[in-house]
Amino acid sequence: MGITKVTVIGAGTMGAGIAQVCAQAGWQTTLYDAYPEGLDRGMKRIDAFWDKGIARGKTTAEQKRQWSENLTAEQDLSKAVNKCDLVIEAVPEILELKQKIFREVEQYCSRQTIFATNTSSLSIAKIAQGMDNPGNLIGMHFFNPVPIMKLLELVKHDGTNKSTVEFAQAAGLAMGKTTILVNDVPGFATSRLGVVLGNEAIRMLADGVASAKDIDTAMVLGYKHPMGPLALTDLVGLDVRRDILKNLQQSFGDDSYAPHPLLEKLVQENRLGKKTGVGIYDWTSGEASETELPEF
Ligand code: CAA
Repeated sequence: MGITKVTVIGAGTMGAGIAQVCAQAGWQTTLYDAYPEGLDRGMKRIDAFWDKGIARGKTTAEQKRQWSENLTAEQDLSKAVNKCDLVIEAVPEILELKQKIFREVEQYCSRQTIFATNTSSLSIAKIAQGMDNPGNLIGMHFFNPVPIMKLLELVKHDGTNKSTVEFAQAAGLAMGKTTILVNDVPGFATSRLGVVLGNEAIRMLADGVASAKDIDTAMVLGYKHPMGPLALTDLVGLDVRRDILKNLQQSFGDDSYAPHPLLEKLVQENRLGKKTGVGIYDWTSGEASETELPEF
C-alpha cells in the first residue's frame, strides 16, 4: 500500500482524532484547518489526549515524542496536501463544501492520491461529482472518540475503484481499526440506527417519560450500551445528529426521521452538547448533570 504522508482537512473533534490515529500509525501527518483558532484547538486536543494517556499509564513519553514528531499543523491547503498519499476530509456536513474541497485538493495531488471523506450521512457519489478521478474517493467514517473506537466504516460509491477500497482497508488496519464495507445508501450501516435511537430518546424526554439520566441508565444497564443515547447525543454534537436526521428525512422522503422539535430548539440555542458545555445535560463540571430544558 505504501503510505508515507497523510493530510487531514478540518481540525474539529473528528479531524483532530483522525490526525491523531494517523500520527500514531507512523505516518507523516498534516492537520489543516482554514481557521487558525480551530487548528490550534485541534492540536491542543491531541496533545491533551496523549498527556492523559501518559497519566493513565497507557502511553509512554517516548511514544508521545515520536507521534508528535509525525504531526504538523498547516494553514495553507496546497502546502498541506503536497505529495500526500491519502487525504481525509472531516469538515462540516455541507455537500457543496466537501465537493469544493475535493475539486480543489485534487489539483494539488497526483493521480495516485486516495481521497476519503468522513461524512456520516452524505452521498459519497454526490461528493465525488465534479472530481477528475471519482474512483479515488471513498467514505472513511470514523467514530467519536476516534482514538478509542475500533470501527472504521468504509463506504464505496458505484464508481469507487477496487484498488481504492483495498487501500482504505489496509489503511484502516494500520490505524488499528476493524473495517466494514458498506454501499452508498443514506445513513450507511451505523448512522441510521444511531440517530433513530437518539431522536426517540429525545422524544421520550420531551414527553416526560423519565429524566434524561433514567432514560440513559435504561440503555446502559438494560441493554449494556457503553453510554446512554442522550449522553451520546451530547458527545457527538446535537447539530451533527440533527443534520444526519434531516439528511435521512430528505433522502428517504420519510418524516419519521424528522429531528424532534426539542432537538431543533436546543441546536438553535447553541446547546450543542459537550463541545459547547451544555446540551441535553450540563457538562460544565466535567460530569453530566441534569439541566432545565427549553420550551419548544
Ligand atoms: N490515552 C490512551 N487510552 C485512553 C485514553 C487516553 N488518553 N483515554 C481513554 N483511554 C482508554 C482507556 O484506558 C480505556 O481502555 P481499556 O478499555 O483498555 O481500559 C478505554 O480507552 C476507555 O476509556 P475510559 O475507561 O476512560 O472511558 P469509558 O470506559 O468511560 O468509555 C467511551 C468512554 C469510550 C466514550 C464509552 O463510553 C463509549 O464507547 N461510548 C460510546 C461511544 C460511541 O458510541 N461513539 C460513536 C458515536 S457516533 C459517531 O461518532 C459517528 C458519527 O457519525 C457522528
